[in-house]
Amino acid sequence: MSNSFVTHALPSTAGPETRAVDAGLLIDPTTGAIAPNISMSVNNALMPGDGAFSADGVEDLAALPYLYARWTNPTVRQLEQRLAALEGGEDALASATGMAAIAGMMLTLLKAGDHLIVSDVCYAGAAELTQRVLPEFGVEVTAVNMARLDLVEAAIRPNTRLIHCESPVNPILRVIDLAALSALARRNGLLVSVDSTFATPVATRPLSLGVDLVIHSLTKFINGHGDALGGAVIGRRELVAQIRGRAGVYLGATLSAHSAWLIMRGIDTLYPRMRMASDTAMAVAGFLESHPQVERVLYPGLSSHPQHDLAKRQMDIFGGMIGFRTRDPKATASRLAERLRVVHYAFSLGHQRSLVVLLDTDEMMASTYRLTGESLADYRAYAGDGLFRLSIGLETPDDIIGDLDQALTH
Ligand SMILES: Cc1ncc(COP(=O)(O)O)c(C=O)c1O
Repeated sequence: MSNSFVTHALPSTAGPETRAVDAGLLIDPTTGAIAPNISMSVNNALMPGDGAFSADGVEDLAALPYLYARWTNPTVRQLEQRLAALEGGEDALASATGMAAIAGMMLTLLKAGDHLIVSDVCYAGAAELTQRVLPEFGVEVTAVNMARLDLVEAAIRPNTRLIHCESPVNPILRVIDLAALSALARRNGLLVSVDSTFATPVATRPLSLGVDLVIHSLTKFINGHGDALGGAVIGRRELVAQIRGRAGVYLGATLSAHSAWLIMRGIDTLYPRMRMASDTAMAVAGFLESHPQVERVLYPGLSSHPQHDLAKRQMDIFGGMIGFRTRDPKATASRLAERLRVVHYAFSLGHQRSLVVLLDTDEMMASTYRLTGESLADYRAYAGDGLFRLSIGLETPDDIIGDLDQALTH
């Protein structure tokens, strides 16, 4: 079972829902099984004729993808091909977690003396990696509000190599103009990576907007069932190969075949899940906006969202993530944790079950962002003293609304 799988050849006109179900699907040559088998083997036999041996008899190891599972493995490779097809990328690397994808990409593309421009607000792990770890390796880092392209441009230095952002931004749901950011990067010879975990390819395909690399935490909406960790980097073949060579081979951040199999099963239903979560999120956001205990709601689909017009241009659906604020957020948090019966009071997001958690602003500043001046004022304009991050699941919409209503109402 080395390289002799048959790829299920989709018509080139296949739509996104078809690609989510079928792209990269390999029919097992022994049994004809359609559902992907899990190939747990760590290594695969090197066979003459497989491309493992060149004409002069010297092994060409790079020609054999299933040499050793730290590079990739047949099940992981099926997932990688499906992800590349969904994002319209040439290739994808699947990694053990979303953080492994971010760290692997940054530790490959950045070296001592390089400069990174990163979104001043982004997933806490990414923010802490760029503030605490990269500087220890001699990488210079500037954090800026990526909704302000003038600030991004002003931050560019001769040694700037990479711009990294998210859209929508975790947790404040700021939407970034990816086409404009990519154009600015291209004019200055820089690479752009975007963590598109909140959007998923159902909402936005950043590569089609000029972005170089798309990152996902597969742990979230793409797997969608809260039972596997995973990450991915998707983009041009040579960039992905470079990241695989370091993140997989030297940093060992490879995804397990079992997790890849679970995540592929999750992707089979990505489109209907995301559409339902997005429709429900729109209804829940509207309900929250009218609730007397709620001070502000952040959802890209609401006309009150600061970048609603951009979101309408850049997102096909508005996604399953909502932020909202109440007076006295800590008291609200304990009421939610005690009273919620449908929604779970817990960290993480993008699962089939709705999840909500308070991100207290002072605690986030002490632990993670350390924003000052205009950046801090802007964060507070979104998040106030604390933001409830609500991830919409697949429950009956009225059950989510009723549950939030009874838990929020005094
Ligand atoms: C936007 C975003 N990126 C990356 C990550 C990290 O993903 P993982 O937990 O799979 O490492 C998260 C986790 O919450 C996230 O929300």
